[in-house]
Amino acid sequence: MILFENEIERRRRRFEAGLGDAKGIVLVGCGSPTSTPGGLDQTYPFIAHPEYYWLTGSRRPDAVIAFDSESGWTHFVTPVSASERLWQGDTVAPVGRPLHELQAWLEQHGTGRKALLGQWQNRGSGDIEFTEFAQQKLDAARRPKDDAEVQMLGAAIRATAAGHARASEFVRPGVTERAVQIELEAAMFRAGADHMGYDSIVGSGYRSSVLHGHPSARVLANDEFVLVDAGGSVNGYTADITRTLCTGKMSPRHQQIYDIVFAAEIAGIDASRAGVEWHAVHRVCAEVIAQGLVDLKILVGSAENLAESGAVSVFFPHGVGHLLGLGVRDVGGRAPGRAPGRQCCGASVRVDLPLEQGFIMTVEPGLYFVDAILDLPENRTKYRGDIRWDELQNWRGIGGVRIEDNILITPTGPPEVLSAEIPK
Ligand code: GLY
Ligand code: MN
Ligand code: MN
Repeated sequence: MILFENEIERRRRRFEAGLGDAKGIVLVGCGSPTSTPGGLDQTYPFIAHPEYYWLTGSRRPDAVIAFDSESGWTHFVTPVSASERLWQGDTVAPVGRPLHELQAWLEQHGTGRKALLGQWQNRGSGDIEFTEFAQQKLDAARRPKDDAEVQMLGAAIRATAAGHARASEFVRPGVTERAVQIELEAAMFRAGADHMGYDSIVGSGYRSSVLHGHPSARVLANDEFVLVDAGGSVNGYTADITRTLCTGKMSPRHQQIYDIVFAAEIAGIDASRAGVEWHAVHRVCAEVIAQGLVDLKILVGSAENLAESGAVSVFFPHGVGHLLGLGVRDVGGRAPGRAPGRQCCGASVRVDLPLEQGFIMTVEPGLYFVDAILDLPENRTKYRGDIRWDELQNWRGIGGVRIEDNILITPTGPPEVLSAEIPK
């Protein structure tokens, strides 16, 4: 990908700068296709490991990029075979040494510490501490997006906008969730997506509360939510956008729920600034949702306490978002020294670090009425005094709302909303 050529050099320099004076070898594998069970010569769609792709601009499997603190970068690749040309047509391998020379190269160079990153088959073992160190440095280098990546995301978001526009035009009583999926995906491909970034989510009525619900043959009825979470991808960079639509004009009941999530999303976006902890953004959204539920007389107490105790997580059970870029879950993680799995407001929030300029994040608060969660005996006990269980009966079955945008963290002030053109 020509566009990437200078960027690749800059990325490698950025990673090297992170390693500092540390001595050793870092090997980053692209991975290999995986056969489908019983599928004879069939494989699952191959996705190059993002760490390798980011450092090389190549998505061809069975390759390794090696960095030696003494001698610099060496690329090991698999030459294109005649059989590949026969079955797949024109295929280009990046410039590099044949992969079978890696072993001899390692024997020559790899006398010190070795870190293994990316994806490997039969990866053998590296030095655990040095691998952890190199992983941290590569993650840190990959989190802020460079110009080429922002452009790719921009292209993916434009294609995605076309799909969501088509969905909002098409959604009506009488069509199925599957038909909505077909329409929106076709529109994304027509507008330049080369793949879908993830399995599209279309959930109508009660099914709008299924967080990752696959489109079914269910026929949309009048006066119900239709949650559409779908993103096209371009060169491996994917958008991740959710809009919650309604069949017909939104009823006051639906509007009340929608408005709470809308307010939470606006507040969450505004809070997403360089230096702010991602958990703090989650808390901002959780408190807006808690206050909305207090106003609806579903929760009782102060928004701060209801967020802190986790009561709000009965309705907002997932993290407020994640890094986005190469794949729908781009490098996430936590700041060095933090324990894994720290919760916030009762939810597991994948990302546990302060935001930096150049991060592309999703902001995606949601509010759902899920029978399986509402009926959990432990929730009934733990939140006995926080939730008005009688009032809740009036809301069951309505489903849920999520609104998700993609934002770029700026040096100061609020973020740039990359998906601002998609109506909500
Ligand atoms: N599209 C899946 C998610 O937003 O997490
Ligand atoms: Mn999503
Ligand atoms: Mn998302």
